Amino acid sequence: MRLPAPRGPVSTTLFARLLGEPGPMPSQLTELVDALPETTVDARSDEDVQISLWTCYGFSYEGFDGIDARWEWEPSLLTVRSALEAVFERDVLAEVRMPEDLTPEGVPAWLMDLCGPSTPAGLLKFMHQNATLEQFKEMAIHRSIEGLREADAHAWAIPRVAGRAKSALIEIQADEYGGGMPGRSHAELYAILMSELDLDPEYGAYIDQIPAASLSIHTLRSMFGLQRRWRGRILGNLAATEIGSSFINRHFSEGMARVGGSKKARWFYDEHIVADAVHEQLAAHDMCGGFVADYPAEWEHLVIGALATLNIRGLFARSIVEAWAADGTSLRELAAA
Ligand SMILES: [Fe+2]
Repeated sequence: MRLPAPRGPVSTTLFARLLGEPGPMPSQLTELVDALPETTVDARSDEDVQISLWTCYGFSYEGFDGIDARWEWEPSLLTVRSALEAVFERDVLAEVRMPEDLTPEGVPAWLMDLCGPSTPAGLLKFMHQNATLEQFKEMAIHRSIEGLREADAHAWAIPRVAGRAKSALIEIQADEYGGGMPGRSHAELYAILMSELDLDPEYGAYIDQIPAASLSIHTLRSMFGLQRRWRGRILGNLAATEIGSSFINRHFSEGMARVGGSKKARWFYDEHIVADAVHEQLAAHDMCGGFVADYPAEWEHLVIGALATLNIRGLFARSIVEAWAADGTSLRELAAA
């Protein structure tokens, strides 16, 4: 994977620095980073913040071609990452309201209610009934950043929890990784989906075209997954991803069939229709129910993680619907990037 193109002063200075040996950051970057709380209006949709954060996290996945791998644990880069995370977390939490009457024991049922099937609306309804093949391709590009890394951020939670929550998490993750069968992990099914749509399935191939609101789905779960203090949040993120997923993927599969998508292209969606009908029960009752029982002091993190995930997903959906309603592309124009 190559380094992406910068999108503003922070990423411009940071990416130039990453070409060199790991070490201190230039004072210009330190000043920009220190000023982030004042200069960032909404980090969730801030192109410069999100591409910088995505790149910081990239070192914890597979890294970048020609870039020194020691940056992963370089204190100066972790300082930059922390500052980016601070404004991102600030703007994520600004949208999260803890339900007043919710109790720890009520979390599994609340999650099922919050994320479960409802009447398709907004982007989901549009994909099901109106989207063109070109729009399905655009959607596949947006979601490639998390789809081709599916399950990876949640795997970081495995060593961080014990008991029932861990067992349920392992059961979900085993399916996500295709039960150990080569070619069957959901990330690989996503690559097949992209190839069938004549898209490049290499991770990051379209990074410069993918806007901040789409990146934030992936950066949110990377932020939660990489920090033990937020283990409840990453489980809440997984629960909000699994619950209702069967319903969502059925509508995507039917929508893609409507525009002539092959059975092979729809495999990723169809796999989720079956798998996530089971996963949502495991996620709500066994994983989250087990977590609130075993980690009672951290139950609110589950709720925050789930609500933050739905909010970010809503932001993503609205940004795409608005772009398409204006008869434009929902992707970033490469010239602008
Ligand atoms: Fe999956």
